[in-house]
Amino acid sequence: MIITIDGPAATGKGTISARIAEKYKLAYFDTGMVYRAVGLQMLLNGDDLENQEAALKIAQNLTFPQMIELSKHEDFRSDAGSHAASVVSSYADVRKALLAMQQNFAKNPVFADGSPAQGVIYDGRDTGTVVCPDADVKIFIDASPEVRAQRRYKDYLTKGINADYNQVLAQMIERDKRDRTRSTAPLKPAEDAIILDNSHNTVEDDVAFVSALIDEKLNNKN
Ligand code: DC
Repeated sequence: MIITIDGPAATGKGTISARIAEKYKLAYFDTGMVYRAVGLQMLLNGDDLENQEAALKIAQNLTFPQMIELSKHEDFRSDAGSHAASVVSSYADVRKALLAMQQNFAKNPVFADGSPAQGVIYDGRDTGTVVCPDADVKIFIDASPEVRAQRRYKDYLTKGINADYNQVLAQMIERDKRDRTRSTAPLKPAEDAIILDNSHNTVEDDVAFVSALIDEKLNNKN
């Protein structure tokens, strides 16, 4: 079973995916990590983010264990790291270089402890369109930029990070624009994706919605 959950930032994809992965005993691949790893390595190397050749070299040499190691760095999910990831993810060659690593995961899915899993849930921007066009269940989650900025803002406050709502909203809109308008694999729902607008939902609502789709698929398979 392969499930894809795509959508813009702060739609709760990660939380929902982790809950679904646990419920259905699926391995989980947060595909934003591959771009975050390349972006962070650029920052650590002191590379100019506009240097596409440097980004490509890093992407071509990135391994799964290296990505996990980089994910422990404090800037992996910081604003600077998010910005770097967004920039490198707009480079077509970089996306191409990182595709096999994402697709190979579904051939031999494993949990974080290395034990084998029966399937995978992917989350990202293009997992239903490019990474796994043959996925069993595809979901595209969306919510208004204001709702998403409010969620991100609250996250920052909970973590004790000083933040300004208007700045968070402006960054959200800028990142959305880059993700939606890039020429390669722009953020958009797959034709056969189910769209979920969760602006007014709780996480429980979303988990129930996705579970119903998976259960329907499993019942049809049996
Ligand atoms: O989901 P995230 O915020 O961790 O993603 C980081 C960046 O990577 C974001 O700007 C979008 C990009 N991304 C992408 O282009 N394709 C994916 N499948 C996942 C993320």
